[in-house]
Amino acid sequence: MWFVEQIPLKPLQHFFNGPDRLYKCGTDAFNKYINLFGRTSNRKDIVARMLEKPAKGVEGLSDYLVALEIANLTFAATDTTSVVLTFLFWELARNSQLQTKLRTELQQVQVPENSNIPSHQSLVKLPLLNAVIQETMRRHSPVPMGLLRQVPPGGRSIANYFMPGETIVSMSSLTAHRNAEHFPVPDSFIPSRWLSGKSESDAMGNEGQGGTEAMKKLYMPFGKGTHKCVGHLMAMLSMRIIVATLVLKYEFKLGEDAKIADMDWDDHFLIILNRGCFLDLTPLA
Ligand code: HEM
Repeated sequence: MWFVEQIPLKPLQHFFNGPDRLYKCGTDAFNKYINLFGRTSNRKDIVARMLEKPAKGVEGLSDYLVALEIANLTFAATDTTSVVLTFLFWELARNSQLQTKLRTELQQVQVPENSNIPSHQSLVKLPLLNAVIQETMRRHSPVPMGLLRQVPPGGRSIANYFMPGETIVSMSSLTAHRNAEHFPVPDSFIPSRWLSGKSESDAMGNEGQGGTEAMKKLYMPFGKGTHKCVGHLMAMLSMRIIVATLVLKYEFKLGEDAKIADMDWDDHFLIILNRGCFLDLTPLA
């Protein structure tokens, strides 16, 4: 490996320098934060929490670790959200009826006078908006292979299979989301499958709403259990606001040369498009 790292090929060097670039992104953001707010701002944000004086006998986080944490969170938050939005706008672009229906729902929302961005509160319970986001993450599982878990000592039975302690197990959301018994025509994009059985608590649960109990059990774009994505509320919040703002402003169409094959992806933990998504956006009058 050491030998490969020395080869002066640009793409190779770019690959091996990835951790440095990630750390630099974290350090730049950390320095900016300290310049703006200082180290003891009493702000209610995650960096302020990381900078808090630790309890007696507990070692606090060094600036290096805080910067790394910022870099990790930035990466975990942005690539994931943007990949979901890419597929969502692509689905809207090839289904103008659905796009119009969604726009009609969004036009019922009052946008604050001094801003052209709808408030999250006005969007959180919109049935079709939530259903479109949910169906995008079902049909295009952004993290197709589940992260790993280890069976506790002594082993456990899972679905009548005994797993010895310390066995590494995982569940793929890609497979779960394609269970044809509970998601009929699983390869089709059908937001309306989420429009039945919705309840107030579902909407506030923020992963979305609606669907049968079995669908909810199988649906896991953010993982499941104790280590489920810590950012899922923030992800849903930002996606609702971004989708609503852009759909109210632009008409989405497939680009002239766009092909279905453009949306082929590879699994890099996250799905990454091989080519790119080509859309035309026309400002609405
Ligand atoms: C659509 C957007 C997102 C998707 C699809 C997504 C997906 C995931 C998945 C599948 C996991 C693994 C969960 C598991 O092991 O069961 C995860 C973990 C994580 N995500 Fe996200 N995520 C998104 C947005 C975010 C955002 C906005 C943040 C932070 C602001 C974030 C921070 C994290 C962190 C820190 C973990 C590790 C949690 C742990 O191991 O305890 N994610 N995410």
